[in-house]
Amino acid sequence: MTIRKAVMPVAGFGTRFLPVTRAVPKNLLPVFDRPSVHLCVEEAVSAGIEDIIFIVSEGQDGPISRYFGPQPGLENALASRNNVELLEQMREIAEMANVSCSIQNEQKGLGHAILMAREEVGDEAFAVFLPDDVIWADIPTIGEMIEVHGATGGNVVALEEVSDTDVPSKGIVAIKRISETRSRILDMVEKPALEDAPSNLAVVGRYVLTAEIFDTLQYTPAGALGEIQLTDAIARHIESPGVYGYHFGGEHQDVGNPLGALKASVTAALKRQDVADDLRAWLSGL
Ligand code: UTP
Repeated sequence: MTIRKAVMPVAGFGTRFLPVTRAVPKNLLPVFDRPSVHLCVEEAVSAGIEDIIFIVSEGQDGPISRYFGPQPGLENALASRNNVELLEQMREIAEMANVSCSIQNEQKGLGHAILMAREEVGDEAFAVFLPDDVIWADIPTIGEMIEVHGATGGNVVALEEVSDTDVPSKGIVAIKRISETRSRILDMVEKPALEDAPSNLAVVGRYVLTAEIFDTLQYTPAGALGEIQLTDAIARHIESPGVYGYHFGGEHQDVGNPLGALKASVTAALKRQDVADDLRAWLSGL
């Protein structure tokens, strides 16, 4: 099964990350030295995805397009300084994937943001990444989810167990376990009160969706927080073609808030040979 396209919505206000998001798009803030959108595009490309469609707010397409586009001035400067290694790395960023941007004019919610990709996606199944969720896994999460979609023909969501405190801010599911890593979803509800939640299993920002979701999203009314919720639209497909869960492994951080982003930077730096020892020594002295 081949999935060629991924949608990455980044048009939200990023209120948890104010004041910096007054001027800088949240998903371009550094996870150590590269933005979360870079890590998500890498994960997508590692699973064979070629086209990345960012959903951006008015005026935000500039920074995203600049990040993933060629930068002749910078490349010439690096070439003239003979900085071949960095030059190669910069060229690779511009060549990673075909990146385009669609505008979401009004922030009506994640479901509405995904609907903005309808024309670009067409009638094929596609992946969705929420770049707030960074996952470090030996086997890329989205690649495994594409396999689940291939085996079932259904929609697929990534799942993780969360604490009681986190339940009311997440999409929560009821499942029937199929194997160690796979489940069939029996129910899903966005941001439930703890007492109404069917479990502590939450949807994390990776999805594989069939194109039918666009019709469903068009008729999905505003839900939790008065926003058009992607979870509500996916829930309408529990019977047909089915919704499946992938219980991913590895490390996950939500970089959509300052503390999560700081932890993610530490996690990323500890994986880097050039700085890990220094950082570890500094941390142990704190
Ligand atoms: P969040 O619920 O995290 O909202 O959206 P947010 O605006 O990014 O951050 P907070 O909660 O205000 O701090 C989940 C994802 O959906 C995108 C966001 O950019 C984020 O990637 N989104 C949300 C949109 O693209 N459009 C919307 O209308 C809402």
